[in-house]
Amino acid sequence: MAKLNFGGVEENVVTRDEFPLSKAQEVLKNETVAVIGYGVQGPGQALNQKDNGINVIVGQRKNSKTWDKAIADGFVPGETLFEIEEALQRGTIICYLLSDAAQIALWPTVQKHLTPGKALYFSHGFGITFNEQTGIVPPKDVDVFLVAPKGSGTSLRRMFLQGRGLNSSYAIFQDATGKAKERVVALGIAVGSGYLFETDFKKEVYSDLTGERGTLMGAIQGIFAAQYQVLRDKGHSPSEAFNETVEELTQSLMPLVAENGMDWMYANCSTTAQRGALDWWKKFRDATAPVFRELYESVATGKESQRSIDSNSKTDYREKLEEELKELRESEMWQAGRTVRSLRPENQQSEAPATDVSTKELFLQQTKKTESVG
Ligand SMILES: NC(=O)c1ccc[n+]([C@@H]2O[C@H](COP(=O)([O-])OP(=O)(O)OC[C@H]3O[C@@H](n4cnc5c(N)ncnc54)[C@H](OP(=O)(O)O)[C@@H]3O)[C@@H](O)[C@H]2O)c1
Repeated sequence: MAKLNFGGVEENVVTRDEFPLSKAQEVLKNETVAVIGYGVQGPGQALNQKDNGINVIVGQRKNSKTWDKAIADGFVPGETLFEIEEALQRGTIICYLLSDAAQIALWPTVQKHLTPGKALYFSHGFGITFNEQTGIVPPKDVDVFLVAPKGSGTSLRRMFLQGRGLNSSYAIFQDATGKAKERVVALGIAVGSGYLFETDFKKEVYSDLTGERGTLMGAIQGIFAAQYQVLRDKGHSPSEAFNETVEELTQSLMPLVAENGMDWMYANCSTTAQRGALDWWKKFRDATAPVFRELYESVATGKESQRSIDSNSKTDYREKLEEELKELRESEMWQAGRTVRSLRPENQQSEAPATDVSTKELFLQQTKKTESVG
């Protein structure tokens, strides 16, 4: 394991150099990896492992579009694609990749098949960390670990096909066989991770829930909405407000920040922008830090997980969710954004302005569940 310096702090990191795919194949050569669930992470992880020469099967409930998708992706019913219970029985490593709510519902079934020596694999620390709420308490004689890709299952697959890799964290909750470490690292490499950094279940879920409620989605939408509204209140047009709030950020600045960091961005913008950004960033930090602290507390006390379990297990969950998403979708800012995007030269064929209802519906269908943060 390599020790790397992250801004002055040393951390353990596993790279493909020290743990090549051939080693992962050797560690997993007698295992049957059962990927349970074929939603977003399921396809990415199952297909990457299959292409990496790992003996992988998929467990998915039948008579669903998801079952058909697994077939379309090359999994064969009765050979590499099974009903969930049969896959659980065949698998020696159970990759539990149902939605977090479904993991609670299916747990009694999973538990029955966790015979001594098997391994239970997660891509999130949720079920184990909040076990008082989820009821997920594995038997003592199985390995329990996680590999959590830091991005969507769609990106995991896409980057694998491009010969790249998404960074993942890994953690061991229980080492019953003495082989948990080599098993989890081998799986991390096999699912297509670029490199793996060490964490524990609690830290993984606390940081993940904070991140998605914070800068990855919740906070960023909040800041977009606030700035857009101020510009609109002061008489700026929707296109101007949208361009100065979102479009310039996503189209021009963020790709550069991704490549070079924000320090580089600050050093390579106009001196006017530089002066203003240097003067204002600490004010935004100080204004939002109390909200981030409140958010972290809400995660750490189990309030967020309970809210997620309660709302996601309601029978009218999808309808209620749709109402909330509709509010966002139909807000002036994102409607303006749709028109702005349609004007990008590369989109002039594929994305029509917001007034074109039929194209709009098509676009919404296409984008419905292709990407998600998890
Ligand atoms: N989304 C991501 O990219 C991402 C990123 C990092 C980590 N993770 C973690 O990876 C895990 C999987 O997340 P995901 O987003 O891939 O899940 P997901 O897409 O929400 O999972 C859908 C899968 O769960 C099945 N399912 C749902 N309810 C079910 C039920 N009651 N009985 C049986 N099967 C049921 C679905 O089958 P049907 O289609 O038949 O309903 C489908 O196979 C989670 O722990 C998540 O936190 C996800």
